[in-house]
Amino acid sequence: MRFMTRAASVILASLLLAAGAPGANAAPTAELPPVSSEELSSSDSMLALINPSIQLSTADYHPTDLRTVAGSSHQLREEAADAVEELLVAARQAGHSLQLISAFRSYERQRVLFNQYESQYGAAYAERISARPGTSEHQLGLAADVGYAGGNCQLRICFGDTAAGKWLAQHSAEYGLIIRYPAGQEEVTGYSYEPWHLRYIGIDHAQAMQDADVATYEQYYNLLLDQAEEAPAEPTENAVETTPAAESSPWGSSPEPEASADSSDDLVVLRFLPPFRDWSFGLSR
Ligand code: DAL
Ligand code: ZN
Repeated sequence: MRFMTRAASVILASLLLAAGAPGANAAPTAELPPVSSEELSSSDSMLALINPSIQLSTADYHPTDLRTVAGSSHQLREEAADAVEELLVAARQAGHSLQLISAFRSYERQRVLFNQYESQYGAAYAERISARPGTSEHQLGLAADVGYAGGNCQLRICFGDTAAGKWLAQHSAEYGLIIRYPAGQEEVTGYSYEPWHLRYIGIDHAQAMQDADVATYEQYYNLLLDQAEEAPAEPTENAVETTPAAESSPWGSSPEPEASADSSDDLVVLRFLPPFRDWSFGLSR
């Protein structure tokens, strides 16, 4: 299943570079793990990029390999579940009683959550702390919110200053997980600092991102795109040539399908608002 056309990916990357987004030109100190364009353009990929500008085109997207994470009632995709289980065991061995607070969330669950925040705080603030339905990594089954029982800083920014939060930031990459919304990167990620929100991308990539000192996944993804451009992978049997939709969809309405053989499965590049708020150009209407 594709989530964004290759052309749309390239447009996104070009705009990142053209806009000089913070760190967009960050150069890795070493070669990054090889990726195929398929890995960068499939919503079922561990590398899928989803953010306020890129949404799932099918509201009912549901990963097929979800399983319950041990010791919790929450689900993640197999590979991510293994990683989170190992991370939590290691955290406890290091003296931090971390637990899983939230993981996979359906479109409907995310809709309810966002609406609650919007009613409570208004749309502008809600958009800084919660993904609109169809744009949450939780729906990919690759995001995990962790915290510790009884702590005052659960799901709060101060969690990052706790011993557990510091341990997490230091060791997550060993398990293939990244702190997806780091402090001071809201202009890039679209969200305020969430020291508790982990995203699984696999050990090789999480460690490469850390080694290259790349702050956000948007920037790391951009580097992967550049690398894939330089060394294009052999086309696979299932690869489908697509044309750019290059159209935005208003939040909350059904995105326009793209003109491709599997267009109903593509993610749609929306408008270049959050996480690229300062951009007054691009593909938005
Ligand atoms: N809090 C993150 C951004 C989400 O709702 O997915
Ligand atoms: Zn989260």
